Amino acid sequence: MQISAIKETHKYEARVAISPNVVKLLKGLHLEVLIEEGAGIGSGYSDKQYKDSGALIVSRDQCLNADICLCVKIPDMSELEILKEASVLIGILNPYENKQYFEILNKRKISACCMELIPRISRAQSMDVLSSQANLAGYRSVIDAAEQFGKAFPMMMTAAGRVDPAKVMVLGVGVAGLQAIATAKRLGAVVSATDVRAATKEQVESLGAKFVMVEDDESKNSETQGGYAKEMSENYKNKQAKLISETIEKQDIVICTALIPGKKAPTLISKEMVESMAPGSVVVDLAVEAGGNCPLSKVGEVVKHNSVKIVGYANVPGRVAKDASALYAKNIFNFLSLLINKDTKKLTLNLEDEIVSAVVLTYDGKLRLNQFS
Ligand code: NAI
Repeated sequence: MQISAIKETHKYEARVAISPNVVKLLKGLHLEVLIEEGAGIGSGYSDKQYKDSGALIVSRDQCLNADICLCVKIPDMSELEILKEASVLIGILNPYENKQYFEILNKRKISACCMELIPRISRAQSMDVLSSQANLAGYRSVIDAAEQFGKAFPMMMTAAGRVDPAKVMVLGVGVAGLQAIATAKRLGAVVSATDVRAATKEQVESLGAKFVMVEDDESKNSETQGGYAKEMSENYKNKQAKLISETIEKQDIVICTALIPGKKAPTLISKEMVESMAPGSVVVDLAVEAGGNCPLSKVGEVVKHNSVKIVGYANVPGRVAKDASALYAKNIFNFLSLLINKDTKKLTLNLEDEIVSAVVLTYDGKLRLNQFS
């Protein structure tokens, strides 16, 4: 059975779905591994490294014709036409926004597996691409802020006087937010954070940061069963805006990570709030591709508004592409280990399995996941 990784063609995408280390693991599952020529360059993996690990370097068409084709983002519509009929496509396929692809996936009887739909259960932790990628994005957001910030992060006592520590506030404390807090603390900043999920208070405080939050009856019920944030009422949003606006004017750096799966990101920092910040302050909007937590942020740009920089880099995990690809590839390998029987070497999509069932979007010519119909 052949498995392949194609070269990503989307703007801002530097990652690749198989790392040289994972080639060796896939060969252990008795798979023939095909890598598109140059697929790893953006992540710092050369064709030679893949070859030395046992992969074949081939053309894009050969990769698209494999039994299992791996990608980071879904390939162009025209390329889905040339995927092998009844093959398996695995990637971060974004079914929320890519509904126009379903017809062709069904026509070609492709089993499309969306890695971002891996359930957040203990058994699936090693396959959780949202966590592996968000963790790196959280780290990188602080490094990007430090690069744009014209002051130091740590407090320094020098003969010439004291350098005050940077004040960093993190909005949204999921996987990315927690890593942003930890990174900013390691750099010596004074860190505070907020979220709508009360459960995050303990996590923020355990990292040594200060937690602020609007606590009312609604906030007691702000988390879905899956652990995600709910969209809050106008009343709550107004109270939260007041809290953020009082806090933000004292901050040097704000890292925004607030997301609601499948919906536009909540607006948390208004233009007026940005205008209340001191010149030279930095806002990093990790939610920019989901509509942004700040209306001034622009995808792929650093916008200057009243001497405040608003950083809207796209695909932030791709800015740490080598590590992001290595973790993503391992996540996919762990998922494949669930599908491929080690004795028979056959691939079976057991749709009775909770993890497989949550991930397989199209199967045998039909859309399976009704939430996307
Ligand atoms: P996410 O990327 O969907 O959202 C980021 C953060 O933004 C979340 O903490 C969310 O509560 C917050 N947020 C949303 N709206 C907000 C608003 N209006 N104001 C302030 N903050 C707002 O979240 P992520 O990182 O994917 O984590 C989601 C959940 O999954 C969490 O409960 C996390 O602990 C859990 N999780 C569980 C794992 C497991 O294997 N059991 C692994 C990873 C995460």
